[in-house]
Parts: sequence; structure tokens; C-alpha cells
Amino acid sequence: MAGYASDWRNAYSGTPAAVVRPGGTEEVAAVVALCAEAGVAMVPQGGNTGLCGAAVPDHTGGQVVLSLTRMRRIRDVDLANQTITVEAGAVLKSVQAAAAAAGRLFPLSLGAEGSCTIGGNLATNAGGTGVLRYGTMRDLTLGLEVVLPDGRIWNGLRGLRKDNTGYDLKQLFIGAEGTLGVITAAVLKLFPAVRNRATAWIALPGPQAGIDLIGILREQAGDRLTGFEIMSRQSLGFVLRHASGARDPFGERHPWYALVELNDTLPAAGLDGVLESALGDAIGTGVVSDAVIASSPAQAAALWALREGISEAQNHEGPSLKHDVSVPVSRIPTFLARTDRALRELVPGIRIVTYGHVGDGNLHYNLSKPERSGDAEFQARAADLARVIYDATSACDGSISAEHGLGQSKRGIVADYKGRHELDLMRGLKQLFDPRGLMNPGKLLPD
Ligand code: FAD
Ligand code: MLT
Ligand code: ZN
Repeated sequence: MAGYASDWRNAYSGTPAAVVRPGGTEEVAAVVALCAEAGVAMVPQGGNTGLCGAAVPDHTGGQVVLSLTRMRRIRDVDLANQTITVEAGAVLKSVQAAAAAAGRLFPLSLGAEGSCTIGGNLATNAGGTGVLRYGTMRDLTLGLEVVLPDGRIWNGLRGLRKDNTGYDLKQLFIGAEGTLGVITAAVLKLFPAVRNRATAWIALPGPQAGIDLIGILREQAGDRLTGFEIMSRQSLGFVLRHASGARDPFGERHPWYALVELNDTLPAAGLDGVLESALGDAIGTGVVSDAVIASSPAQAAALWALREGISEAQNHEGPSLKHDVSVPVSRIPTFLARTDRALRELVPGIRIVTYGHVGDGNLHYNLSKPERSGDAEFQARAADLARVIYDATSACDGSISAEHGLGQSKRGIVADYKGRHELDLMRGLKQLFDPRGLMNPGKLLPD
């Protein structure tokens, strides 16, 4: 059971009572009904790539891991309706491939796409690198099939873009981290295939320049701006040190970088020209220090690998304290200036690994220990450091979890940042769906 008992980073582990791998919705329902009858808690699990310990059982030996990974069928592709119906255990990459084979695009994209599943993407309301244009899983989902905590099956697999027949129940299960039921299938939106793409790696003097550049690109490329990622030199430095074959696109060092992608459905959209012109203007006004535009799909992939490699590279530098925050895009420079300063005062020499989907206001504000300091010594400061970051996030009207969720890691602290009434309503919903508290207990909701 080892592979199901701890997470991708080995940051969280537990002791399952059993691991159950049903092969279809009826089997999930039978397992859930049995657990409900016996009063046994269940932990739904997909690809187990989540970053906040939400898919891992506790240490009591009394929780059953319910793995959806055998349920990976593509049930239907409806081209006229622009939808794909998939089972929850389907790996994201295979859903992207099924859409591509039908001449369409399923746009969710993230570093773990080769292992994470649609069920996990839904349960965490995953974001990733295309949110700027296509939105999060909440925006990409039309219908769900869910096994409720008592074993009943709710068939909400409607592929409708308009349905005003009352509360939008599917949205309650999206982002619920498996605490309200087990998602077994979903109807997802498809989009026209991308036929022209331009990718650039850009050197920036600072975070404010990144925000200014988003404005320039919005003006000149409109909604063809699909991805806008930012990363600090510290982040790139870790990738260059640890990822085999990684190469700095520039000869000299810069404090900040952006990775930009434009896409269009028209093959002759001329996006390289659009990007070149926008970047030319940005260099002219000092917003951008230097830029390279990928001249082939292979070069574009190499640039994306630098960005996608940060999370893995940081693991080689000792414990990585992850903070997945969002603030309004306009407040990012202030947030970073204040928080960087406060953290450096608290732990001199701390290595701040800032990167993320900055076009959505989402920063991965991760921390590594100072060089030559001990892992345990650094871990011991984790709560103090998180407090500084979350207080600053809150002061900027932000969220302490932009896309990874609360899981085990943030369920305690969220009570300090969410309003009492909001938490009361969330507890009320939990009570309504799962009165016996058997569905992924110890996750998301504070005690
Ligand atoms: P798991 O980790 O197995 O589970 C996550 C949660 O979903 C748990 O609460 C679990 O109980 C619940 N769950 C799983 N399946 C179901 C189901 N069928 N029904 C009900 N509940 C279920 N996330 C982002 O949003 N954006 C990113 O850019 C991003 N980048 C990442 C990069 C790397 C390298 C890694 C390792 C992770 C990244 N993540 C990112 C986090 C993670 O991959 C996503 O949250 C992903 O959506 C989780 O999917 P999973 O199948 O692995 O879910
Ligand atoms: C990413 O975007 O790379 C992940 O969501 C961030 C992380 O692994 O901390
Ligand atoms: Zn991310």
C-alpha cells in the first residue's frame, strides 16, 4: 500500500486500513455504502500529486483509501456540443490527448499533468498555466457524476451551458477536496485546437515590470495572451543547478524572468510578429531588459521546462515550505517588497523562491533554508514564516490558497483568514452532505 500512503513529495504520510480500487461507478457506490454502514472513513485519491496532504490518510489505520485510478475511460466526445465526458481517474494528459485526437483542445495544463487525474483536478479546482485565457476547473466543467457519502449516485452529467434550475450543485464538489463525495465522472468543455503559438522568455528588472508587461500584451495581443508566468532568479538558479540539460537562455543574469505564451486558432495568425512588436515596445520603454522568442516547438518546450522544473528542483535544496497565495495583480509588487523584507529579517539568508501564474495574481511563494543551515532548524520556523506571508496576503485582500487547496497543511490556519459566517456556512454544507463526517475527515475544514 506504500504508494497510496504518502504524497508525491513524501511530505505527508499515513497508514491506510485498506486501499480499494473500484473499476466503475457502481463499484464506487458499493464501497462507499459498505464504509458508511460500518462507519469507516474514506479518503478519495487520484494521482496523489496534490501539494497539501489532502489525499493521504491519517495514522490511525482506520481510513480506507479509495483510489479512482482504474476508472480512466473517455466515455464520450460530442463535437457539436464541444464537450468530452471522462471518468475521474483519467490522467489529465490522456484527456488532453483525447481532445487533440478529436481536433479540439482541453486547456487545463500543469506540471503534474502526466500523473494527476481529472477527479483530483476537480476536487482541488486546479488552475495551472492557461487560467488567464481558459479559467480554472470550475470554468471548464459542465456536469458531474458523484457518489454521495451514503453510497447514492448523483447523476449530474449534463453537458449544458445554460441550466437555471436552482443551485449549481456541481460547484460544491469542485474544490471540496473530497470532503463532500466521490467524483466518478465529468462533462468538460472543449475548445478549438490551437494552430498558431508564440512563446517568449523575457528578462525583467523587477516584478512591477512584469505587471506593466501584462498590460502591454493585453493591449496588443488581446485574449490571445494565454499564459504569463513569472519567476525570480533564485527559482531559475535552482533549475539550472538541478535539472539535467537546463540552460540559461541569456548570457547574463537578470533579477526576474517572465514566460509568455500567445495562442490562436488561426494557422496564419502571425503571433511571432505580434509578440516581437509588443516586446520591442516594452524594451524601448525599459519595461523589458531582454527577450528571446522560441523559433521552434522544441525551443518553446525547453523554455517551459525551465518553468515547470522549479518545483522539482527546489526539492533538492532541503525542505521547501510552499505558500500558494493570490493577491490582486496590481498589488503583487507591494506584497513582494513587504513580505521579502519581513522574511529576511526573520531568517537572514533565507532563499525565497518566488514564481507562479502571475497573470492570475497567483504566486508560489516558496521558501528554502539558508545555505549551510539544518533542515530541522528551518522546519521549526515554518509556522512563523507562514504567518508573516499569510498576514501580508490578507493585508493585500488576497487568499492563502490560490490553487492547491487547504488539505491538512492549511486547514488550521484558514480559520484566521476566513470570516466566521463563511466558515459556519461551509460547516453547514459539510453537515448536510456528510453528517457522519466519513468523507476525507481531517482535511479542508478547521476543527
Ligand atoms: P490527488 O493528489 O490524488 O488528490 C487531491 C485532492 O483531491 C484530495 O483532497 C483528494 O481526496 C481529492 N480527490 C482526488 N480524486 C477525487 C475524486 N475522484 N473525487 C473526490 N475527491 C477526489 N495544481 C494546480 O492547481 N496548478 C498547478 O500549476 C500545479 N502544478 C503542480 C506541479 C507539480 C510538479 C505538482 C507535483 C503538483 C502541481 N499541482 C498544481 C498540484 C496537483 O497536481 C493538482 O492539485 C492536481 O489537480 C491533483 O490531482 P491528483 O489526481 O493528483 O489528486
Ligand atoms: C507550479 O505551478 O509549479 C506548482 O503549482 C507550484 C508548486 O509546486 O509549488
Ligand atoms: Zn501552480
